[in-house]
Amino acid sequence: MQAIRVHEQGGPEVLRYEEVPTPSPGPDDVLVRLDASGVNYVDIYQRMGLYKMSLPYTPGSEGAGTVAAVGPRVRDLRAGDRVAYCGALGAYATHAVVPAARLVTLPAAIDTERAAALMLQGITAHYLCHSTYPLKAGETALVHAAAGGVGLLLVQMAKMLGARVLATVSTDAKAALAREAGADEVILYAERDFEPEVKRLTGGRGVQVVYESVGKTTFERSMNCLAPRGYLVLFGQSSGPAPEIDPQILQWKGSLFLTRPTMGHYIATREELLARANDILGWAASGTLRVRIDRTFPLAQAADAHRALESRATAGKVLLLPG
Ligand SMILES: NC(=O)c1ccc[n+]([C@@H]2O[C@H](COP(=O)([O-])OP(=O)(O)OC[C@H]3O[C@@H](n4cnc5c(N)ncnc54)[C@H](OP(=O)(O)O)[C@@H]3O)[C@@H](O)[C@H]2O)c1
Repeated sequence: MQAIRVHEQGGPEVLRYEEVPTPSPGPDDVLVRLDASGVNYVDIYQRMGLYKMSLPYTPGSEGAGTVAAVGPRVRDLRAGDRVAYCGALGAYATHAVVPAARLVTLPAAIDTERAAALMLQGITAHYLCHSTYPLKAGETALVHAAAGGVGLLLVQMAKMLGARVLATVSTDAKAALAREAGADEVILYAERDFEPEVKRLTGGRGVQVVYESVGKTTFERSMNCLAPRGYLVLFGQSSGPAPEIDPQILQWKGSLFLTRPTMGHYIATREELLARANDILGWAASGTLRVRIDRTFPLAQAADAHRALESRATAGKVLLLPG
């Protein structure tokens, strides 16, 4: 089989395309022949060294394809089943061994490319607006990088819940996509300060929640956009890590809540994984939720996929396809 291997952390050039032995599944595992692998920002953090990794490793935490073989204790899956998953390392490859408990069987209406595009960012958007801060009809949310992979899905889900969505994006083209996804107001935050804009758009009251994925360049002003007892949900850092803060600041700025969630804790049980996955795949199958695949790259060109995502050039999902 072919895989992208990382032998030392660094720039995109450390992503090397190699021939490696095809692994056999352990007793509770499944060997999946991948049709598509999702590229996510976390893959960049791991590659750069922001997160510690044991080397060498195969990047990628999300994929979809067909079951090629199952371990002896796996009962509910068999060769040929179409499956998708997220949260298991090793997806930048033609094949991956995945614990059976992480796999979701795909409905007939969803092809494997769309499934690979939906799993990680879709489940993230789902837990953010249904569990971390469950949005209610009539509330207002601020979504940064609203034309990103998570962003476009989060805007749609927030609208499904009846919230008003204020969105930030860097370009006019991204603004059009955020509006198409349902954003009520779009702010070009690379051109103008979003903080006074949010205050103006909320009549000075502020928003109930900020879904904050940009980090360094937006974090402090995001806090200033919140209504008293509002939630700052810091779930990413695409511009760099958020600054350290004194907890007292949460009192001064209105008895605010700050949380730093990560997907693993919101799909910790099989039941929770299936509930979220069934929601997003069902919505996608019925056309209620649209997933935008921005571009695909051959697996061997994983480095170019990283360059595209890092350079802020993408809007929606980036996928790797085995050659
Ligand atoms: N905690 C979790 O469970 C979880 C799960 C999934 C993703 N995440 C995080 O969510 C964030 C978004 O992930 P994603 O995969 O959907 O990526 P993405 O939003 O598609 O891409 C990142 C976007 O961030 C914006 N951005 C602002 N400043 C930037 C900068 N200096 N450099 C690069 N981008 C910048 C860009 O949008 P504009 O051009 O519009 O500014 C860019 O397109 C990432 O930080 C990721 O780690 C967290």
